[in-house]
Amino acid sequence: MEIPFRISIFEEYCRAEEATAQQILEQVKQKRNSVIGLATGRTMRGVYRFLIDEEKKEPGLFKDVTFVQLDEIILKTVGEGIFSKELRELFIERLEGGYEAFLSINVFVEDMVKEAAEYLKKVLNAGGIDLQLLGIGVNGHIGYNEPGSERQSSCRVASLAPTTIERDGLPIGSMGITLGVEDILNSKKIVLIATGNSKASAVRQALKSTPSVESPASFLVNHKCISIILDNQAASML
Ligand code: GLP
Repeated sequence: MEIPFRISIFEEYCRAEEATAQQILEQVKQKRNSVIGLATGRTMRGVYRFLIDEEKKEPGLFKDVTFVQLDEIILKTVGEGIFSKELRELFIERLEGGYEAFLSINVFVEDMVKEAAEYLKKVLNAGGIDLQLLGIGVNGHIGYNEPGSERQSSCRVASLAPTTIERDGLPIGSMGITLGVEDILNSKKIVLIATGNSKASAVRQALKSTPSVESPASFLVNHKCISIILDNQAASML
């Protein structure tokens, strides 16, 4: 089957991380006040390390950038959302020259349904997402759009798949708030990175099967500006 989008495959995972970081740097150099959607997870850590190192050479590179959050876990045991804390601590607060704003999902409100709608409004008021960085779950999820999520889904409270809960070490029955598939597809550009053997099957299903709710990531392939970055292991079943 012919693959109609831009796909780059690297021998080593760290080269895939570097190439992903490069796409973000290019975006920011082209549009200083970009709105960038950030994802969490193990895959992103190397990407953020590259970005922090590059920013040291050019402090202030991100000073006009607004960062927004892709998803969050609804868990009220810490002083702030787990993912927003992770993004601040691993990336945005390490930027020497700072950043314009970080729009985060607030899980300390009574009405989560309202928070999801208001969060999306904030993202749209900021101008919408110029570049959305994405990982992929082993089951093909993007953000917390688990299998079963519709292409038209919007920012909402979402149930997590048992496998996600187990992999992320969360309490049974955990829920999240996530930008929907439609919101992600509304980003002007999408960069998806997948590394490691555990992602090979999800990558294959996303890229080689007819788009369907079984693999939310499969809806991405029709986006007009998507870059898919893999290492050899994640690409091994293509
Ligand atoms: C997590 C997050 C996603 C992330 C994905 C992959 O559960 N909700 O935003 O992209 O799953 O995570 P990892 O890179 O740790 O495999």
